[in-house]
This record gives sequence, structure tokens and C-alpha cells, in this order.
Amino acid sequence: MSDVTQRRGDALRIERMDIAYGSAEPVVRDVDLRVGAGEIVGVIGESGSGKSSVALASLGLLPDSASVVVDRMEVAGQDVTGFDEAAWCDLRGRSAGMVFQEPMTALNPVVRVGAQIAEVLRIHGLADAAAARERALELLRLVRMPDPERRLRSYPHQLSGGQRQRVVIAIAMAASPTLLVADEATTALDVTVQAQILELLRALRDDTGVGVLFISHDLGVIGQLCDRIAVMYRGRVVETGPAAEVLGTPSHPYTRALLGSIPTRATPPRSPLAVIDRAALEEAIA
Ligand SMILES: Nc1ncnc2c1ncn2[C@@H]1O[C@H](COP(=O)(O)OP(=O)(O)OP(=O)(O)O)[C@@H](O)[C@H]1O
Ligand SMILES: [Mg+2]
Repeated sequence: MSDVTQRRGDALRIERMDIAYGSAEPVVRDVDLRVGAGEIVGVIGESGSGKSSVALASLGLLPDSASVVVDRMEVAGQDVTGFDEAAWCDLRGRSAGMVFQEPMTALNPVVRVGAQIAEVLRIHGLADAAAARERALELLRLVRMPDPERRLRSYPHQLSGGQRQRVVIAIAMAASPTLLVADEATTALDVTVQAQILELLRALRDDTGVGVLFISHDLGVIGQLCDRIAVMYRGRVVETGPAAEVLGTPSHPYTRALLGSIPTRATPPRSPLAVIDRAALEEAIA
């Protein structure tokens, strides 16, 4: 581990997190999660299990209607309990980046890529106007954008889906964050492009020591990428451990059900969670 990663401490540390929306029952309960520096941690679970809620809470992005109760929560080694919006904003500008599913909604369609990256650098005080172009180019190189000089002048619609996601990742990496949260970041991409983006995330981790919280409902993707995995079921982490262990010798019935539902290589993984036999699962858990 380099000096830099040691100094930064954990990228994310959550102990006993509950999240509720309004006065409804909590949708996340008792969740412990840790992402070490330079570690890629996957969160897997069916739709509605609370993955995005945990991701948003980690970045202070939950809506006002949500309430979070937690024993301990640190982002980039910083205690974030009691943070107000300004403190979260500052933290997101310096220490945490995020990538969501649909790159087109994250990008401004009428602004060239280079100008969008420069704008983020300016807002967060990371580069002045003179240095912004060079730094934007550097970031496009960091995310392995083909022909980066030309891409600076492109509009988002002139890029492929994978290239657009690279721009979003470049923006997320602008402040050299300690934590990168990727929520279904490859779900909208076709399988080949998906593999390229996974390779990129791995390279970014190796290059910069960023810790990655990678959320997906796709066990195949999680298995390819992650060092450790947390399996969520109905708002709880029901199993966590090194990826090889969780996938090789799953201990929780839900994880076993998930693994049993993985399609073979011949059938494209579209919605693997839909085929779980819920009645059998309920019986196994009870
Ligand atoms: N803004 C909100 N207001 C009220 N309830 C919400 C809100 N966002 C999420 N929920 C509820 O919280 C629960 C967890 O949702 P969440 O989006 O965290 O799940 P998820 O695991 O990310 O699902 P998916 O795989 O579909 O993205 C669900 O029951 C959902 O309906
Ligand atoms: Mg989600």
C-alpha cells in the first residue's frame, strides 16, 4: 500500500445504518459496509433491496424525506455524521465521485465535453481557466478515452454510450477522490462495452488507489470486478466476504438462490434475479 492510500484511511466505513423514507418502515436496516483504500466492493441484491439507498446515503444525496440512523459513518476517513448540505457538497467536490446508470442524464447535451470537465474543475477550485484544458485532457487520458484531444471538442451525442460513461467517470475522478460510488454504472451498456468499463474501473483503482463501491444487480459483473461482496436482501446485508468466498461457498440461502439463477454464458444476462423461486427461498430462510 502506498503512503497516499495509508494516509487516506478507508474510503467508506458504515456501521449499523438504518434508512427510512418518511414515516414508512426502514428500507435499510443494520447495514455494515467498509470499502478500504484501493478496494473494489460490490453490493448485489434484487430490485428494492436498498442498494441505491445505501449508495446515496454514502454521498449525502438522499432526499429530504429520508432519515438515516447510523452508529458510525466515515467517508475518506472523515466523520460525516452531522454533516449539513454545505459540508456534503464540499466532501463530494474533494473526496468522493459518483457514476450512475445513464451517462446522458449526467451530461449537458449542448456543452462540449472539454468545457463540461473544465466547469467541474472550476466549481471545485481544482484548476483555473488556463490550466483547465490541460487537466481535462489528462482526465480523458486517465479514463483511456480514444483520441482525447478531439473528444474535448465533441458534444455528448457525438460519443458512443461507453465513451459517454468514460466522460462521466473522468468528471467523477476530477478531484482525485478517495471514494468512487458506481450505481448500476454499466447496466445500460452492451456486454462488450460493459467489460471495457469494468477494466477501466480496475485500472483507475490501480492507478490512483481509489476505493470503489460498485452496485449492481448483475452477479456476473460483480464477480468479474470486485475484491469483496456484500449481498443485500430486504434492506439487510445477509452475507459479506471476499468475492471468491461468497461466490464459491455462499452461506446464505439468498446468495445460493442468486447463484443458482445466473444464466449460462450462452444466454445473455438480462434479469437474472427474476427467476428466483421466492416461495422456496422464504422456506429456506425461515
Ligand atoms: N425516494 C424514495 N421515497 C420513498 N421510498 C423510496 C425512495 N427511494 C427508494 N425507496 C424505497 O426504498 C426501497 C429500496 O430502494 P432502493 O432504490 O434503495 O433499492 P435498490 O436495491 O437500489 O433497487 P434497484 O435494483 O431497483 O435499483 C424500495 O422499497 C423503494 O421503493
Ligand atoms: Mg438502485
